[in-house]
Amino acid sequence: MPLSYIGVGRSEPPADDMPSTRAPLIICLCRGITDRDIARAMARGLRSPGAVFAAADCRPQCGSCVAMMRGMMAAAPAEGDEPGFAAAAE
Ligand code: FES
Repeated sequence: MPLSYIGVGRSEPPADDMPSTRAPLIICLCRGITDRDIARAMARGLRSPGAVFAAADCRPQCGSCVAMMRGMMAAAPAEGDEPGFAAAAE
């Protein structure tokens, strides 16, 4: 099951052509940082979990979310990347 489907209040995955109306996915349970918070931070150019925590004015507590944050950041194209850059680099 894709992580993007794990939301609150849905019993069926959204169709690919439907806009997502799912609730934010909490990535950091200790600090309540969601996937949308991370996406907003990345849109501002923040590219590390530490920068995300600093932007949220907090520090990691247990640290179990850091690997997930790094994975999200690695999967997203960096600003200035050509489309398909990640696929071509593999
Ligand atoms: S889940 Fe993020 S610090 Fe614990």
